[in-house]
Amino acid sequence: MQQLLIKGGQRLSGEVRASGAKNAALPLLAAALLTDGRVRFENVPHLHDVTTMIELLGCLGVDVLVDERMGVEVCAAGVNEFCAPYELVKTMRASFLVMGPLLAKFGEAEVSLPGGCAIGARPVDQHLKGFAAMGAEITVSDGYVRAALKPECNGRLQGATVLFDMVTHTGTENILMAATLANGTTVLENAAREPEVVDLANCLIAMGAKIEGAGTATITVEGVESLHGATHSVIPDRIEAGTYLLAGAATGGKVKVTGVVPQTLEAVCAKLRETGAIVEEGEDWIILDMQGKRPLAVDIRTAPHPGFPTDMQAQFLALNTIAEGTSRITETIFENRFMHVQEINRLGASIDFEGGTTAIVRGVEKLHGAPIMATDLRASSSLVIAGLAADGETLVDRIYHIDRGYERLEEKLAQLGARVQRVSG
Ligand code: EPU
Repeated sequence: MQQLLIKGGQRLSGEVRASGAKNAALPLLAAALLTDGRVRFENVPHLHDVTTMIELLGCLGVDVLVDERMGVEVCAAGVNEFCAPYELVKTMRASFLVMGPLLAKFGEAEVSLPGGCAIGARPVDQHLKGFAAMGAEITVSDGYVRAALKPECNGRLQGATVLFDMVTHTGTENILMAATLANGTTVLENAAREPEVVDLANCLIAMGAKIEGAGTATITVEGVESLHGATHSVIPDRIEAGTYLLAGAATGGKVKVTGVVPQTLEAVCAKLRETGAIVEEGEDWIILDMQGKRPLAVDIRTAPHPGFPTDMQAQFLALNTIAEGTSRITETIFENRFMHVQEINRLGASIDFEGGTTAIVRGVEKLHGAPIMATDLRASSSLVIAGLAADGETLVDRIYHIDRGYERLEEKLAQLGARVQRVSG
């Protein structure tokens, strides 16, 4: 199994470029199922989760061509399978995103239930509620969700108003994709406002969909009979970019991340400024300068966009472990997203819990290297940040979690002067 060996204590300095966003690329690839035309995606990140989605599309009969610069061309004209098998869905929950497009285009879909996951139960009831409101008959048996159009639908999903009980990112994306080919108007209420949802809407619009309000809590979709091919560039990964800024902050360094959309990182940059960092933003770059100082402790409370992203919670917790003062980190989106805490405590951090959802972090002067284990994607990156800030050597095990969502992490960190090496253990 591969591990990351980090020799910490090095102040990071330099420039790194953000890759395309994983959480935009996954729904975008699924959206290509909605048309017989060719859809070309640029700036697709080279990640395990993207490979899994490409493999899933392949299983469905989709023609996928990947060039050496990760341009991905998808043609779904030959789809002859409508089932996303357990083997793929269990490795990546985002596989559930094929359900909306399959149902809308072919009138049927069968997708394995994702089951629990490391960060929480993560049910898909809101996705299913939306499909049912649009005229799908849903049955759940043998671990699979089967959806088919009711006979009275006359071969097309029917526009409907879907009011989500909570803000759901992929739930919004699944219903949005399904609604593009529905008969009539679909209104998504309490919709997710994440930049990745907006990116998906922009691509769907380029494919001929009629969508208004993406990026707000109400999205209106006028269904069309068919969509066509398009070319779309995946938006930059705000979470990856934020992770490099945090790595800079945790080491007292100065880091410039290029190829970003600074507006998508507003909550993160505001919190970084509260730590005492100087943060400057340009059209497509952000510079963080910690000026060798110890960060000030900052409280964090996760919330759907434009609130503070849950996908940056673990990284900020890592930063707070070496901050001046005590902070409260409250996770409101997922019920089990603190698995990094026990691992970071192994490096000498002082973190306790108040109830199940708030971690109390008492900043210490220094962390000290030790072997630690990654438990999920964002937890892994927090361990790397802690390891970079720590004295001595930190060995992070189970880094396959990192490869799901960070493209060439050790190369990019090395570009910033970090001493990080991938080793086999
Ligand atoms: N929820 C339900 N029922 C549903 C859907 C969601 O109860 O039908 C609950 C979830 O259990 C959770 C909350 O609603 O408590 C929000 O979940 P959401 O549906 O928004 O999460 P997701 O769509 O499954 C996406 C990202 C996550 C990111 C969250 C929150 C993708 C592929 N995944 O997950 O990314 O943390 O939104 O922003 O877009 C990651 O990249 O590491 C990651 C976990």
